Amino acid sequence: MSSQIFQSDPLAVHSLKVIIENQNVSGAYVASPNFQQYRYAWLRDGAFCALATHVAGDSQSTLKFHAWVVDTVLKHKKLFTDASAILETGHQLSPEQSPPTRFHENGNLEEDHHSVWPNFQLDGYGTWIAVFNQTQSQYTDRELEAVRTVADFLILSWKNPCYDCWEEGGDKIHGSTLLALAGGLQSAFDITKEVSYRDSAEKIREYIESNFVMDGHFIKHPGSTRVDSSLAWAALPHHAYESDNPILIETLKIIKADLQTQGGGVKRYLGDTYYGGGDWVLLEALLAWNQAANGDLEAFENAIAWMRRVADTNLDLPEQVLNNVQTPEMIKPWEDRWGTNAKPLLWSHAMYLLLLNEGIRNQWI
Ligand code: BGC
Repeated sequence: MSSQIFQSDPLAVHSLKVIIENQNVSGAYVASPNFQQYRYAWLRDGAFCALATHVAGDSQSTLKFHAWVVDTVLKHKKLFTDASAILETGHQLSPEQSPPTRFHENGNLEEDHHSVWPNFQLDGYGTWIAVFNQTQSQYTDRELEAVRTVADFLILSWKNPCYDCWEEGGDKIHGSTLLALAGGLQSAFDITKEVSYRDSAEKIREYIESNFVMDGHFIKHPGSTRVDSSLAWAALPHHAYESDNPILIETLKIIKADLQTQGGGVKRYLGDTYYGGGDWVLLEALLAWNQAANGDLEAFENAIAWMRRVADTNLDLPEQVLNNVQTPEMIKPWEDRWGTNAKPLLWSHAMYLLLLNEGIRNQWI
């Protein structure tokens, strides 16, 4: 039973509407309808939207998304099994040989998909399985086959460098990618009971703890001493770690200190230049969601208030708020290239619903 709040809070009502209206008949969610480059279906953005529709009480939308992912994975099963075969020989996967991060809404691959977009990103596959596990309790044979197809590929590919969730750094292994994969493989075990998935999740966590922890917090990638805000997703939604894990708690503190703007908004990482590197709406919510899971009511209230403030007069939420950017001279080059920053961004709206739900769960609203 979904809470009344989802039907009475204006930004929640609008957020659900934006997500549903931009779900294709196929079940795919487009990342943003008004931004040419985002008129595709990402597993990462989509999985967050599916979790959001689930908590907000539109389980039909959630089911349709999972059905689309299952169809899409099985339609391209050969891509996964060929990639796994290459990895089994001990070779690294090149971007052309890897399943993509985004698809057309009908589940087709983009033509020339790896030369037009940094498409080799593993995290979304982990996020999808983690969300599938949290939103469904019984699985058909086809659904199990799709989960196994993805998980069999992930247990071989997690140490392969790939682009991160910001579609950058394709030559590196990224902390937040590994967290998504640990959570996804743990969930693949929950769904299929196949112990090799649980063992791989455990190995990934050990690898993270040996290579991606410094001064008690997770780091963006080996060689960096810094955090990336996406590391906050270790617990929610991926459940790679418990919410009260000390390394995660320390990571949340550093994200707040280094990347949160006074008054609201969270940057992806220091030195970000995409549209100037401003304050991401979805990251404000991601940080607050994980802080709220540890009882931080103030973080929750501040984030909800800030998100309501930055919604435009139609209540649309953008990807970034550009009031306090790191490199102002980089706004124009991106605007000249792709137009103004994406709005509405479905993932931003999904995060508002997920954060609100955490407040409901804590009986704060
Ligand atoms: C972000 C990705 C996101 C994509 C679509 C990119 O700019 O870096 O995380 O999946 O936009 O929203």
